Formats: sequence, structure tokens, C-alpha cells
Amino acid sequence: MKIIHVVGARPNFMKIAPIFEAISTYNLRRDVRRKIAQKLVHTGQHYDHSMSQLFFDQLEMPRPDINLGIGSGSHGEQTGRIMEAFEPVLIREKPDLVLVVGDVNSTMACAIDAKKLCIPVAHVEAGLRSRDMTMPEEINRIVTDSISDLLFTTDRNADNNLIDEGIQKDKIHFVGNVMIDTLMKHRERALKMSTLDEMGLKNGKDTVDYALVTLHRPGNVDDPGVLESIGEALRELGKSMKIVFPVHPRTKAAINQHRLEQLYREDQGILLLEPIGYLDFLNLEANARLILTDSGGIQEESTILGVPCLTLRPNTERPITIEQGTNRLVSTEKESIVEAAKSAVISRDEKPRVPDLWDGHAAERIVDIVARTT
Ligand code: UD1
Ligand code: UDP
Repeated sequence: MKIIHVVGARPNFMKIAPIFEAISTYNLRRDVRRKIAQKLVHTGQHYDHSMSQLFFDQLEMPRPDINLGIGSGSHGEQTGRIMEAFEPVLIREKPDLVLVVGDVNSTMACAIDAKKLCIPVAHVEAGLRSRDMTMPEEINRIVTDSISDLLFTTDRNADNNLIDEGIQKDKIHFVGNVMIDTLMKHRERALKMSTLDEMGLKNGKDTVDYALVTLHRPGNVDDPGVLESIGEALRELGKSMKIVFPVHPRTKAAINQHRLEQLYREDQGILLLEPIGYLDFLNLEANARLILTDSGGIQEESTILGVPCLTLRPNTERPITIEQGTNRLVSTEKESIVEAAKSAVISRDEKPRVPDLWDGHAAERIVDIVARTT
């Protein structure tokens, strides 16, 4: 059997890494007659060293067998270019299954290509819904799920969403969370890194109080009013704790374009960094007093790490991180952010629950099901 895995953007690497490894381990089993050949295709949606190669190194992933080198563009351009470049790969390679993860443009584009060539598609992280059709990711999720043959979910809410949309129950498999597989595998190593020392976040043996920030949703960073209001809130919070902000390339471009460099500045208490590698980032997450983000994956990671997380969005496709984790939705108005941050810091020691099957073994479950059903 032959599988092609697709990666394109930063969060895809953490999701594919454990699946790739679980297949390699599966192939070593003596009781397995039919080995699984696997190839990795990188669409090139993300291409900066700090948004791509760095993760292959840190997560010990093999080099992609094929890099389509697509790069950036508008949604139509990027999606179209990926589809055009991936189709001949499928025709040449003739895989038995194409496995896609998450909700980025690469996910949807490659799923459509495969399905139109009658190649079965597996979608990992299926069924998440924000009900917000202004998010490009929501469109990618709905399209991908509607044509997938195997839908692997991270929680029971997702199963219910898919059933409500008329997806056959026998295609849906609740397996847990592969992003958490990666977190559990690397947590110990990440905590041994000297990240805090290197970033000046230690005072002797003590960790300095800091909030970790990431932003990249178009709804937050492409709107100058929203980006300014978040910046003002960070400046206010910067008076009582350090703000550590690894800046996504979309956000860096937006800060420059909207001339907000005066607000997002070190002398305003904000430590601005390039995007950083997974292990350093995990260390920063684990030691933060507070996380402010609009990322999908970071809502899940903060749940497992038990660090209060304020998600600067009106909705989330990951409600389990609110029901069982440390996550809370907050509007992007300055006062709301400042108030929520102050109360989140105080209530830090509430004990989070670990969602069902977020146990470090989701990828193994996926591989067992793929081997049985493909
Ligand atoms: C994409 C995903 C989003 C995901 C995020 C993870 C879609 C629609 N969006 O958003 O769901 O949460 O990745 O980080 O697929 N850029 C660079 N270097 C890079 C990559 C991007 O400079 O290596 C800049 C370019 O100016 C580009 C912009 O960032 O136009 C946006 O990149 P793009 O991949 O279109 O979307 P993201 O905002 O990264
Ligand atoms: N991450 C990282 N370095 C950073 C920011 C994020 O390694 O500077 C990791 C983070 O730990 C998580 C993933 O990137 O595993 C989340 O990706 P992102 O926020 O880009 O995308 P989303 O999850 O919103 O789709």
C-alpha cells in the first residue's frame, strides 16, 4: 500500500510527524504482512526557513520527497497552483491513499485533486467547525470533509458536526489529537532548552513573568483598527509583565504596511522575535504566565500545558479547549483584552482536564485504521 502525505504550512508539520513515524514503526512489526510505503509532498505554501525547514530539523522529519514550491498568493491563485502542481504527482505516483491534515489551503487543494482522480482521501482533524464562513479555514474544512473517505477526529463534538452534515458514520473515527502526540513526545526535550536564558526571561533562578503572544488571523492582522487595538492592549500589559511576541510573516508585513511599528516596539515592553522553532516555542508556552493568541493549535497545546489562554477571536472551532481546558474567547477591544489578561493571571492554578484520547497515541490509532480499511 502506498500513501502520500501532504504538508504545506507550519501547523501541518507537527501533525504529520507522528503519523509518519507511526507508519515506520508499523512497518517494522513482524506480524505485518502488507507494509505501507509513504511519501511526503510539501506544497511550499510556507517556505521561509523559520516557517518550514526549522520544523523538519527539530521534529526529525525526513526531507519531503517532492516540494511543489508554490509559495504565497491570493486564495484562488495559491489553491489553483497547488492543484495544478499536485495532480501530475498523483498520476505518476498512483497512491492508494492521500492523507491531509488540518485546514489550510494545501489541505483542501490536494484533497480535491485526489478525489477527482478517484484516489481515497483521509482527513486528520476532521469535523472542527467555527460556524464562521468569513474564515478561509472554515471553507477548507467543510470542502475537505465533504469529500474525504476517512475522517479522523480529535473530539466527539467533531463527530457530531460531521453526522449533522450527513457524513456516513462508518467513515468517522475518533482517534485523539496528533498535535498532542508531538507535544508529548518533545515536551521533556523542550523544557531542557535554554530558551528562557537566551531571551533574558530569567532573573537568577526565577522565571520572569511574561505573556506569550501569537497573531496571524486575517480578521485580526489585516484590519489596521484591530491590529492597533491589540497593540495598545499589549502595551498596557507590558507595564506589568514582559510580552514575548514571535511575529508571523503575515503579521510583520501588516505592522509595516499599516505603519504600526511605533506601537509594536521593544521600548513599549514588547519583545519582538522572528517565528521560532517548535522546541523553543513549546518551552515558552509551558513557562508563560499567560498566552494570547488567535492560533488554532496553540489553543490545544495550552490546554495540555495548563497555561491560561486568551483567544482573541469571536469564535473557536475547538470548543473542547474552553469546556475542558484553559482557553477563553476574548474580543479584540483593548479594555477587554487587558481585563481578561489580569483575571487570567490570577486564576492560573486551576487544574485542567485532559480531553479524551489526547494521550500521545492518536497517530498509532490512525495507522491501524488505515491499514485495516485501505
Ligand atoms: C496559513 C493558513 C492558516 C494557518 C497558518 C499557519 C490558509 C488559508 N491559511 O495562513 O490557516 O493558521 O497558515 O501559520 O491556508 N509568508 C511569508 N513566508 C512564508 C509564508 C508566508 O513571508 O514562509 C507571508 C506572505 O506574505 C504570505 C502571507 O505570509 O502572503 C500569508 O501566508 P499564507 O500561507 O497565505 O497564509 P497564512 O496567514 O500563513
Ligand atoms: N509555533 C512555533 N513557533 C512559533 C509559533 C507557533 O513552533 O513561533 C507552533 C505552535 O507550537 C503550534 C503551531 O506552531 O504547534 C501552530 O501553528 P500556527 O499558529 O501557525 O497555525 P494554526 O494552528 O493557527 O493553524
